[in-house]
Amino acid sequence: MAENEAREPREVRVALVGIGAWGRNLARNYAQMPGAELRWICDRDPRRLADASRNFPHAMCTPDYARVLAAPELDAVVIAASAVAHFALARQALMAGKDVYVEKPLVLDVADGEELIRLAAERNRILMVGHLLEYHPVVLKLRDMIRAGELGRVLYVYSQRLNLGTVRQDENALWSLAPHDISSILFMLDQLPTDVSARGQCYVQRGIEDVVVMNMDFGGQAMAHIHVSWLDPHKIRRITVVGSKRMAVFDDAEGSEKLRIYDKGAHLPDEYDTYAASTGLRFGDITIPYFKATEPLRLECQHFLECVRTRAQPVSDGHDGLRVVKVLEAAQRSLKSNGEPLPIDLSGPPRVAA
Ligand SMILES: NC(=O)c1ccc[n+]([C@@H]2O[C@H](COP(=O)([O-])OP(=O)(O)OC[C@H]3O[C@@H](n4cnc5c(N)ncnc54)[C@H](O)[C@@H]3O)[C@@H](O)[C@H]2O)c1
Repeated sequence: MAENEAREPREVRVALVGIGAWGRNLARNYAQMPGAELRWICDRDPRRLADASRNFPHAMCTPDYARVLAAPELDAVVIAASAVAHFALARQALMAGKDVYVEKPLVLDVADGEELIRLAAERNRILMVGHLLEYHPVVLKLRDMIRAGELGRVLYVYSQRLNLGTVRQDENALWSLAPHDISSILFMLDQLPTDVSARGQCYVQRGIEDVVVMNMDFGGQAMAHIHVSWLDPHKIRRITVVGSKRMAVFDDAEGSEKLRIYDKGAHLPDEYDTYAASTGLRFGDITIPYFKATEPLRLECQHFLECVRTRAQPVSDGHDGLRVVKVLEAAQRSLKSNGEPLPIDLSGPPRVAA
């Protein structure tokens, strides 16, 4: 083998399963990214496959998943099918010896998530879940600021993920939208919630909640409030972090000014020495850090390729996916019992360092 051939890593050969509204974005990234070859596209819908073969002429398109998995040259399977299909598709891919990326939520059942983690470990395969916001430059910046104490002690976080649509039939708004908020809040705070509660209502379809508000409590310290809906007049993608020193607002619907840091606050009881001072509010500057325009999905796909090449554990690995599924499952049980707060145990292996 020539010397330069030995140094040049070969392209990671990827198959995409599910080329719907979101899968198209993954296909575009893998088709364009150096170091990747989008070799197969699989979807059970013939119209979606026909579109795929027009848009990605270099990929082989098929409805036959078994044929894809049987391809010996294939390294990794990227799953962007509907959430109900995640477990079966990921399980088959791991059994076939492929590395696997699964869109969020990892699975719809805790036991299924545990099985995927076990299979990946047994077969020494990469298992990564698409917790997109863990790769978002603004979330990384907020996580660093929180770590460095720049916001002070985090008092509470609230997020809003609202829009008119996309209405899904096989999962509710909680499972469809809240994985983004749960994963990014746990990631930024680097804390685990001790109890979860949720309330919601079904308006559009019987038995499928369109609007959910849920809470996570972090051992009586910080609290987080998440509002998700696909029945709302506004498209809102916003996370607000209120710290004892500063406050921050991440607005992902903004084009360029996605993060605002408010040097605002109040004198908290452990910081005052007279009663008069305790009621004082503080108003200061608002800063807007600059972020280079980068597609977070591109960063996420690059991380998956890197893990496949180097065999490193992904930041959003199976355990990270399972933590979020456990929170969702507890929130779902709380939904069905009128918002009762339910204790949750998320102990497990430590988070992979980002
Ligand atoms: N990370 C994000 O920001 C983000 C955004 C939207 C959706 N998603 C996730 O992406 C996934 C897909 O969502 P979507 O909006 O593209 O849905 P979609 O319904 O538009 O597309 C799903 C596609 O998967 C195909 N499919 C379903 N089951 C299959 C199977 N067993 N084998 C082969 N193909 C199958 C369907 O035919 C369809 O083409 C979901 O898991 C969703 O949660 C992630």
